[in-house]
Amino acid sequence: MDTMAFLSILLLLCAFPLSNAVGRLRKFYLIPRNVPTTNTPLNICKLQNYTDFVTVYDEDDNTELYTLISNISLPRSALIGAHTINTNYTSKWSNGDDVTFTQLNETCGGICGAAFRANGSWELLPYSTKIYFICYEEGVGQASDKYILILLNKNWTEAQLYCRKNHNDLVSIRNETENESVKSIIKDSEFNFWIGLLYDNIEWFDGAQSSYRNYSKIPDQEKQTLLTINNSKKTWIQGSKTGSFNALCYKSFIHVSSDEMSWEDAQNYCNSNASGLLQIESQNDQIETERELRRQKIPGPVWIGLRYKFTSGLWIWANGSFVESWINWKGGSQPEHQMSQYCGAIEKVNGVFKLSDKDCGFKFRVLCEKR
Ligand SMILES: *[C@@H]1O[C@H](CO)[C@@H](O)[C@H](O)[C@H]1NC(C)=O
Ligand SMILES: *[C@@H]1O[C@H](CO)[C@@H](O)[C@H](O)[C@H]1NC(C)=O
Ligand SMILES: *[C@@H]1O[C@H](CO)[C@@H](O)[C@H](O)[C@H]1NC(C)=O
Ligand SMILES: *[C@@H]1O[C@H](CO)[C@@H](O)[C@H](O)[C@H]1NC(C)=O
Ligand SMILES: *[C@@H]1O[C@H](CO)[C@@H](O)[C@H](O)[C@H]1NC(C)=O
Ligand SMILES: *[C@@H]1O[C@H](CO)[C@@H](O)[C@H](O)[C@H]1NC(C)=O
Ligand SMILES: *[C@@H]1O[C@H](CO)[C@@H](O)[C@H](O)[C@H]1NC(C)=O
Ligand SMILES: *[C@@H]1O[C@H](CO)[C@@H](O)[C@H](O)[C@H]1NC(C)=O
Ligand SMILES: *[C@@H]1O[C@H](CO)[C@@H](O)[C@H](O)[C@H]1NC(C)=O
Ligand SMILES: *[C@@H]1O[C@H](CO)[C@@H](O)[C@H](O)[C@H]1NC(C)=O
Ligand SMILES: *[C@@H]1O[C@H](CO)[C@@H](O)[C@H](O)[C@H]1NC(C)=O
Repeated sequence: MDTMAFLSILLLLCAFPLSNAVGRLRKFYLIPRNVPTTNTPLNICKLQNYTDFVTVYDEDDNTELYTLISNISLPRSALIGAHTINTNYTSKWSNGDDVTFTQLNETCGGICGAAFRANGSWELLPYSTKIYFICYEEGVGQASDKYILILLNKNWTEAQLYCRKNHNDLVSIRNETENESVKSIIKDSEFNFWIGLLYDNIEWFDGAQSSYRNYSKIPDQEKQTLLTINNSKKTWIQGSKTGSFNALCYKSFIHVSSDEMSWEDAQNYCNSNASGLLQIESQNDQIETERELRRQKIPGPVWIGLRYKFTSGLWIWANGSFVESWINWKGGSQPEHQMSQYCGAIEKVNGVFKLSDKDCGFKFRVLCEKR
């Protein structure tokens, strides 16, 4: 690595923490005891004005939730938002991408991951199978650098953890071009490699698409999931349909308006109905914003608290502070204009959320920050 590259990585590390831990836009809460799990439409989290039962997105979430239940009485367990639904198997990419490109429609009778064969075809294997796998690195142009073959035998869950720790995530393949690129880097290997496609019948109450799993045994049908710890073991298990449990809920501090409005009206709306327009202050905020938009299936564009200041030629946040350069602009760099009526929105471009500049008079839904 040359000095410049090293310096810029160092700067990046200083600019924002790499942790995806729950930050200012999403928080966890424990509701103690006596949550009935009988076939009731009652959602205790919503009744208490939280957003929903918690969705576990990654290992940091999982660890924080275990900490939250570490002091409650035995057996230390609490409901999370995962439940199994009959035999309705669905596929999801580890990184949250929409599944638009796959020919797999079989099942493997449990939780499966997709593996890439040397000839390019994909197959489903039980996710406990230990094979090699492929991670990816965002923002790298060349396929040979973007896709990283990891020659370690790991099950799908371990492979996901490994890629998330050391690179971005397990690879997702969104179209024929990417399929061919991955094929070209595994060349004539005789091995199978995990890719980031998970296939199971687990759903999250809040509609999220998280592929993080902490089960130690294959879940049964039609049950809710408990996070349990005792002195010897941390795992997700399934609760019976009767009985009462502690509940783990979360609150999202992102509000999405149902109406569309101009940026100025959006600012008034968020100031009077929330604590202002949403400002994306860090990589963590960006991740939480994307999760919320994916969960609510909103491709955008939606307004955020970002505006172009013609007098200085700079983009500023609604509160007047300048925008850091890390921000994820559509097209790769921040847009410049001769006129001032440009405002910032977030929208999905080729399946990826990017910031973009729009005429402030256009009418979109808006993201506000809740308190
Ligand atoms: C939830 O919010 C509603 C409406 O704001 C309020 O009437 C109710 O008391 C709240 N419930 C709890 C448990 O805080
Ligand atoms: C657990 O209890 C200990 C001792 O009472 C306390 O110091 C700690 O903050 C508690 N942890 C949590 C997560 O509540
Ligand atoms: C704790 O975990 C062990 C090992 O899985 C299990 O045998 C035991 O029943 C658990 N205890 C409680 C109180 O859940
Ligand atoms: C990827 O390409 C191979 C041929 O190189 C093809 O057999 C396979 O079906 C493709 N995968 C998908 C999901 O279309
Ligand atoms: C699903 O499988 C059936 C038969 O096994 C096949 O005819 C069909 O093309 C498959 N669908 C997709 C979307 O791959
Ligand atoms: C790829 O290889 C597998 C077995 O290794 C075979 O079942 C499959 O038909 C092959 N696919 C193509 C497109 O050659
Ligand atoms: C994956 O491997 C880890 C470490 O060996 C193990 O703890 C875990 O239970 C395995 N998961 C599955 C689904 O086999
Ligand atoms: C579940 O998560 C905990 C904490 O992240 C980890 O220590 C444990 O090995 C995981 N268990 C399984 C079965 O994946
Ligand atoms: C605040 O929200 C209410 C209900 O949606 C709406 O009627 C009102 O106009 C909003 N305030 C502003 C300033 O937009
Ligand atoms: C304005 O917002 C930015 C980014 O959200 C934040 O870092 C800064 O502290 C805020 N400044 C003021 C004066 O509130
Ligand atoms: C394939 O997907 C990538 C990533 O979204 C995109 O950049 C590329 O243009 C796509 N290629 C085709 C042929 O659709």
